[in-house]
Formats: sequence, C-alpha cells, structure tokens
Amino acid sequence: MTKLGVNIDHIATIRQARRALEPDPVAAAILAELAGADGITVHLRSDRRHIRDSDVRRLRETVTTRLNLEMAATPEMLRLAVDFHPDQATLVPEREEEITTEGGLNLLANPESLAAAIRQLEAARIQVSLFIDPELDQVAAAADLGASMIELNTRAYSEATPKSPDLAGDIFRRELTKVVQAAELGRRKGLKVLAGHGLTYRNVRPISAVPEIEELNIGHNIIARAALVGLERAVREMLRAMNGAE
Ligand code: PXP
Repeated sequence: MTKLGVNIDHIATIRQARRALEPDPVAAAILAELAGADGITVHLRSDRRHIRDSDVRRLRETVTTRLNLEMAATPEMLRLAVDFHPDQATLVPEREEEITTEGGLNLLANPESLAAAIRQLEAARIQVSLFIDPELDQVAAAADLGASMIELNTRAYSEATPKSPDLAGDIFRRELTKVVQAAELGRRKGLKVLAGHGLTYRNVRPISAVPEIEELNIGHNIIARAALVGLERAVREMLRAMNGAE
C-alpha cells in the first residue's frame, strides 16, 4: 500500500493569518496520525511564513510516525535540522517570493554543495530526500550524489489534470509517463521513490498506482477539504456555545 505523509503547513498558515495560537499544527499532526497518516511533513521556510521553529521542536516531541522536515539546503536550515533531528529532511529549492515550491532541485547545477548537505544531515542520522522534477537526468544525478531517496515533483502532472478523466489529453498522459519513467529509473538505481505536490482527491489514483512510488506527500488539498467538511460541525458547535444545548 502506498504510504501517506500529510503536510500540515497550511494549518499554520491559518494560525499565522491572525498571529494566534489556533489552530495548532501539533494537534493537526496528532489527528492526522490517528487517521492513519504514515508521516507528518512541515516546511520550515526562511521567512517563517507558516511553520515556526517552535512548531518543529514540539512536533519532534509528539510525532510518533515519521517527521519529515522540508527545507532549503542553506547553512541556517542545515544547522536547525541537525538540532531538531527530524527522521527525514527533504531538500527543496526556495525562492522568497514564491507562493509554494515551484520546481525541483537542479542537481546538475551545484552538486558539490548538495553532496556536502547530504553528508552533514546523514552524519546526524537524518535520512535525506531530494525533491526533483521527474526528469531522467535528475534521477541519475540523485543516485550519483549518493542520495537514498527522491521525491518526484508532481506539480506539472497536477496542473495537467483534466476536469474529468474522459478529457485526459496528451499533456496529462505525457506528464504521467514522465513520473512513471522517473520512478522506474529511481527504483532501478536503488533509490526509495516518493512523489508529491498539487495532488488532489481527483488526481491521486494514477500516481498512487505506480508501484515504484512508495509514499506521497500531500498537503493543501487535504487541509482545504478539512476546512470544508469540518465547517458544518464548527458552526453547530458555535451555535451551541452561544445558545446552550439545542
Ligand atoms: N512535496 C514538496 C516537496 C512540497 O514542497 C510540497 C508543498 O509544500 C508538497 C509535497 C505538498 O504539496 P501540496 O501542498 O500541493 O499537496
């Protein structure tokens, strides 16, 4: 069965919209684990726009599955990762103005500094995953760098998802094929293969059906759905708080 890592960044996004205490990502992590999540992912961004250092510290104490820290391979984040000691660190590129991670790492551009980052994290007994686009040269480069894990970026696949499966066109099929071929090469090279970004209830199945992909990281769509499916109950509870038992 494909494993699910739940990215809870946007619980913190809602909290930070008011600089309030709720909703607490730690509570969200516990609920996700109770529902069967195999891991909890958070992205500590350099601007701390959602997850904050204290969240990672508290999550480290409470997460009982696997804590995956997404991070840029900067000296500051590497130092913090060694200090926080997540089970896994996923190295991603980061641009300040971006709304979310825009693409995978380019492993061909700066292999020495990435190799050094991998060594530093592994020396601290943190497993390292590299977030890359589903390109064969990037998968091969990940293996050459000595990585043990890659996460394939499904953003282009997700953006090509048709409104209904009957409308699946060439672009969607091409993007799916790229993910499948990258996953197959990754497995042949001995890498553990994960995937994620932009996956939704509608487009997840073709990706979770790829046998080489062991785990998916999904965030925004789950949190968005939670906000909607939980709203009715939340309104009822407020009415009860206002007016007493119905
Ligand atoms: N994987 C990586 C590397 C990401 O940066 C993100 C977004 O933070 C995700 C997975 C999850 O993407 P989404 O929130 O679109 O499900």
